[in-house]
Amino acid sequence: QRLEELLKRAPKAELHLHIEGTLEPEMMLALARRHGVALPYADVQAVRAAYAFTSLQSFLDLYYAGASVLRDAQDFYDLAWAYFQRAAADGVVHAECFFDPQTHTARGVPLAAVFEGLVAAQRRAEAELGLTVRWILCVLRHLSEDEALATLEAALPWREHFIGLGLDSSELGHPPAKFQRVFARARALGLHVVAHAGEEGPPDYIRQALDLLQVQRIDHGVQAVHDAALLQRLARQRVPLTVCPLSNVRLCVVPDLASHPLRTLLEAGLCVTVNSDDPAYFGGYVADNLVQTVQALGLDARAAWRLLANGFEAAFLDEATRARRL
Ligand code: ADE
Ligand code: ZN
Repeated sequence: QRLEELLKRAPKAELHLHIEGTLEPEMMLALARRHGVALPYADVQAVRAAYAFTSLQSFLDLYYAGASVLRDAQDFYDLAWAYFQRAAADGVVHAECFFDPQTHTARGVPLAAVFEGLVAAQRRAEAELGLTVRWILCVLRHLSEDEALATLEAALPWREHFIGLGLDSSELGHPPAKFQRVFARARALGLHVVAHAGEEGPPDYIRQALDLLQVQRIDHGVQAVHDAALLQRLARQRVPLTVCPLSNVRLCVVPDLASHPLRTLLEAGLCVTVNSDDPAYFGGYVADNLVQTVQALGLDARAAWRLLANGFEAAFLDEATRARRL
């Protein structure tokens, strides 16, 4: 009980959050009405009822359909500002958020509208809520590397507004090896680099992300639990994993929270962090993820504290800002 309260109030870093995944059903329907977009849902209950996922792909299909209501800068502003208010109420003090430009530019939304809305919400969150916010541009792995390269180049007029490159979307069949050139380009630009790997995909995808993309963190990475040598390497090199327990349950990566490998990963000495992924779709923001995971796995206060501290260790913050946030 007391641990729960402490966890809710404790300062947190959120390192694995897709801003498009914070689109709550109420806002989805309101934006659909604003723009006259037809959605196959009569009301909020119908939207929530559709969120019965069986795999990553079954989620992505609905997630990209939901994102189709995001049309102009105001929509991106409303989306992000609503998230920052919830995050601040949840104890988040630092958020490194993913956004997926290709999901929007493919529908004719200008990149300028995406940046304009997101950056305006960031400025307000930093001024009024005391958050630090950083953006990580993600490229979609179900599309080609040439499209990823073109997306990164197209974003360079806004280079000062994002700190990193990420890789997300359908994992199986789209290994990190497919994206070596775009990650090399990102590194040459001085961007931080991260990739989703080992969510549904095999441990070898985690190795590829490390060796071929030279990523600084692995997003998810839970499949590493099936590879003892990889676990040792991740622990030795202290490569952070941005784990999202409620996401893993909802996407059937694990059968339930009690069987989640997080405890094993932590005990193997990895820098495990707890994050929320797409909270509007998976039934919980970061405090819910922490509290439910700590309870389901019977973690003690020391382990819970470790998870929180790991979030700040793994964050892409300069030392002065890190000290201010902790
Ligand atoms: N895009 C949004 N959420 C994702 C996830 N959990 N895995 C891959 N791509 C995503
Ligand atoms: Zn994710």
